[in-house]
Amino acid sequence: MTDQRSYIPEHVAIIMDGNGRWASQRGLPRFEGHRRGVEALRRTITAAEDLGIRFLTVYSFSSENWRRPVTEIAELMGLLRRFIRNDLADLHARNVRIRVIGVNDGLSADIIALLDEAEKLTSANTGLTFVVAFNYGSRREIADAFRSIACEIADGSLAPADITEELIASRLNTVDIPDPDLVVRTSGEQRLSNFLLWQSSYSELVFSPVLWPDFGQDALMAAIDAYRVRDRRFGGLSAAIGGSR
Ligand code: FPP
Repeated sequence: MTDQRSYIPEHVAIIMDGNGRWASQRGLPRFEGHRRGVEALRRTITAAEDLGIRFLTVYSFSSENWRRPVTEIAELMGLLRRFIRNDLADLHARNVRIRVIGVNDGLSADIIALLDEAEKLTSANTGLTFVVAFNYGSRREIADAFRSIACEIADGSLAPADITEELIASRLNTVDIPDPDLVVRTSGEQRLSNFLLWQSSYSELVFSPVLWPDFGQDALMAAIDAYRVRDRRFGGLSAAIGGSR
């Protein structure tokens, strides 16, 4: 029998979508969908640890989410605050390393401090790396990388010929994090919505019909099952007809 773990992706990235629809289907306020979304996140982190996934990235707050009503933004910020305050010690005890990607612009000082604290406390942990994309947008990330490279070219410390894919990757927020093998979007929507655009160049995309608050081990396993039957060729030939991958 094939070893199931050998098919487990190293890095799974998730666009957590459908909180609002989950709530409206039940006649509940959108906030209740987000609140239950935090519970789904807890289940998914545990499932990722159990499966031996090395990196789990979640899209928690996008640069575009600032367009939502101020009350909903405040609720999402409140959930992040509570999540870190309630769960940080336990995640640390479980050897989870937390990384945060995104920008600080627009975030309140206490949120920035909590995110910093989570990263610092867990930086030496060796278990699951849990990457929180918060106030994150891929185009902004790429623009920031280009600006840093342009500054170095302007001051003469870098030449245009030095610009390689590796150099660009090293200037992204995800430096030292492998590209996702699998990107999952829940709720049946089929878009990347400015999430890890550079990093997902060769990722398998799986669109789960499950609304995020209902997500957990079973839905994660279903996404991984869909990933396993894909033939990842990275632009080369299929292994079935003689390619190396
Ligand atoms: C998308 O659902 C989800 C979000 C915009 C936020 C995701 C946030 C959480 C799961 C909870 C908070 C996270 C942390 C880190 C504590 P939607 O509101 O767009 O759903 P809809 O498309 O059905 O309206």
